[in-house]
Amino acid sequence: MNIPIKFFSLLPLGSLLLALSMARCHKMDVSVAARAVAEKTFSNPLAVPPIVDGKNAAMEAKSGSADLGAGLIVNALGYGGAPILGPTIRIRQDEQFSLIFSNGLTEATNIHWHGLKVPATQDGYPTDVTAPGGSFQYRFPVKNRPGTYWYHPHPDMATASQAWRGLAGFFLVTSPEEEALGLPSGQYDVPLVVQDKRLDGGLAYNPNTNDRTIGMFGESVLVNGTAGPVLEVATRTYRFRLLNGSNARIYNFALSSGAEFQLIGTDGGLLSSPMEVPSILLSPGERAEVLINFSNQPVGSELYLQSNAFAGTETQGKQAFHILKFKVARQETDNFTLPATLMSVEKIPESHSVATRSFNIGHMMHHGGSGMMMHSIDGKTFNASRRDEVVNAGTVEIWEFDNSAGTEIHPMHLHAGQFQVLSRTGGRSRLEAWENGWKDTVLAFPGEKVKIIIRFPDFTGKFVFHCHNLEHEDGGMMLNYEIQ
Ligand code: C2O
Ligand code: CU
Ligand code: CU
Repeated sequence: MNIPIKFFSLLPLGSLLLALSMARCHKMDVSVAARAVAEKTFSNPLAVPPIVDGKNAAMEAKSGSADLGAGLIVNALGYGGAPILGPTIRIRQDEQFSLIFSNGLTEATNIHWHGLKVPATQDGYPTDVTAPGGSFQYRFPVKNRPGTYWYHPHPDMATASQAWRGLAGFFLVTSPEEEALGLPSGQYDVPLVVQDKRLDGGLAYNPNTNDRTIGMFGESVLVNGTAGPVLEVATRTYRFRLLNGSNARIYNFALSSGAEFQLIGTDGGLLSSPMEVPSILLSPGERAEVLINFSNQPVGSELYLQSNAFAGTETQGKQAFHILKFKVARQETDNFTLPATLMSVEKIPESHSVATRSFNIGHMMHHGGSGMMMHSIDGKTFNASRRDEVVNAGTVEIWEFDNSAGTEIHPMHLHAGQFQVLSRTGGRSRLEAWENGWKDTVLAFPGEKVKIIIRFPDFTGKFVFHCHNLEHEDGGMMLNYEIQ
């Protein structure tokens, strides 16, 4: 809602609360299917965001016009002078991140550092926003393992809208230990953020009631803000960092050649050892790092990164589509050898857990007698002034997300750190290869119950956990947890 606070202050509190809760609810029709993907010709060179040093960064969020390729111009939002998306922030583990952020938009915004363990004041809490024309200094020590994290806005009830219109970027953490592995680097280390958009109305964000229920889907799948992208590659091994930065769409990533990926990393960095996988299913917010070896592809050949059909939900997954074309353009030899071990992933022992909490995420809540429905966690929707869960700093807990009774997919995400996935019962009844490492977002299909284990950070403060379907999040499928 973009109604200025001043307007509300003229109204009695009761109508304020009513107006707020009405904005979160919608009439339900879960039988609706996601908008189908319409493939473009793959002829626009893939954009790769510039890299900035996270020790000393400054950037502004601004609106402007973006060329998505071949003169396809839309109004979009971007960070740091980029017409859409933002620069890739790079920093080493244990360094101090410092960024002066200015808000050049006409609406309040903030930045959340998705996957990073940062103090509550730096985390982009939904009501902790920077006013239009204002600025904020983000500063925190980078404590995470080397890996692929990302940043995006997180203002209450406007995250979906701002992310949809273009605000997001990569945050890459490195370390000397990681660099010593000799993984493909520089131009051979390519971040890929995959996002579906509706281009018929530019990038305007106008969800209808069905969009608010199942999430906002677009017919055009962009990679790094490029529509119909093509990347020229050499006959050697590349490292790709896959990020599903979509509001609601799931991708089942695979190669059209039928070759397998070497999966090397997940949300929270490198795996203990590489794993060969034919496909990788990522829901909004999730990441995977893969190596692709093009050395046995003839120069001149083409192949695609694509999404295969998948089962588990009625709303999406029936369609397979291409995402990015690789054009093998030149002969090159690397002397890369795949390390047998990458970086140790120490399992958190279940015996260390001091508490187990279970959350019902499969329940739609009725809003009064109005027939309106809201996505909820344990029958509650977001309220910034409530303490929903209280945990002790530094302790280990097991949390369970129970979608047994649900009819929709919910990628569940916790702020303030990384967890490990313990089990999945119902539905797929298994853990996936990319759930073997550190995670911050985990997908629960309808019928599934997913258990995670987490060690909370040593600091205190209030954080959120929520569904990363951004329409669900903005609709209130988000609760607080306080570390004390
Ligand atoms: Cu990427 Cu609270 O979100
Ligand atoms: Cu997050
Ligand atoms: Cu959800």
